[in-house]
Amino acid sequence: MPAGFSDLRDFISILEANADLKTIKGAGWDLEMGTICELNHEREGPALLFDEVPGYPPGYRVLAGAMWTPRRSLLALGLSTELDTDEALTAYEERVAAYRPTPPVEVQTGPIYENAFWGDDVDLLKFPTPRWHELDGGRYIGTGCAVFLRDPDTGRIHFGCYRVMVHDRNTAGLYITPNKTGAIIRRKYWERGQSCPVAVSFGQDPVLFLGAAQYLGAKNKRELVRYELVGHMRGAPVEVVREEVTGLRGRVPTARG
Ligand SMILES: Cc1cc2nc3c(=O)[nH]c(=O)nc-3n(C[C@H](O)[C@H](O)[C@H](O)COP(=O)(O)O)c2cc1C
Repeated sequence: MPAGFSDLRDFISILEANADLKTIKGAGWDLEMGTICELNHEREGPALLFDEVPGYPPGYRVLAGAMWTPRRSLLALGLSTELDTDEALTAYEERVAAYRPTPPVEVQTGPIYENAFWGDDVDLLKFPTPRWHELDGGRYIGTGCAVFLRDPDTGRIHFGCYRVMVHDRNTAGLYITPNKTGAIIRRKYWERGQSCPVAVSFGQDPVLFLGAAQYLGAKNKRELVRYELVGHMRGAPVEVVREEVTGLRGRVPTARG
């Protein structure tokens, strides 16, 4: 694959190897991480990896700004960081123009199941989710996330980047604006009086995030299948498992600690 990595842990290593990552220990979840990110962004600083967040065990990390700069987006896409902005845009457009649908491959299992919690053991509050901005209504766990839904008419999986806020230990809110494909799919369930199953990934291969956030615009382009686009952009099929609760397919991180 052109990017030379297959999950977020690999990408963090690549950022580290390129001296484009700074680890910050001890910053608090309530506005402190958000403020540091904002200042760092104004200075076009490195990606930030927060660890040892007060009140949480070491290793419960938050990565911010993974693709904030053109350079880090180039790294994510496996393109040369020597390209200037015009060259980078051209290289990106050329890759999109050469689009060859690259379907996902289904695998039996993956590390996604290494830390599985069910029923009363589910606790969203165990993660150091930041309150990023002072006027935020809560703590957003889903900012650079991917939300997966199945169109009940076609059976096709769609995913998009839609914000997710933690409400309590086992409730999260999901905001999708009404014009988005995700909202159209969700409405189909609700009009039938059914709940709409979703699976959410927080912390995935950055190309999957790019695919989730990519605005495909006009209605006819909604037919473009995101997994196949992401597979093309990263030069290798996305590996997926069938998720146990919803039956949806989700991205499998590779088998590393
Ligand atoms: C960081 C980030 C956060 C986003 N948050 C939301 C959100 O909360 N709700 C939403 O509808 N779109 C949000 N978007 C935009 C959608 O991800 C984007 O428009 C995507 O193309 C939607 O796909 P769809 O129209 O196929 O559903 C966000 C995008 C990014 C990059």
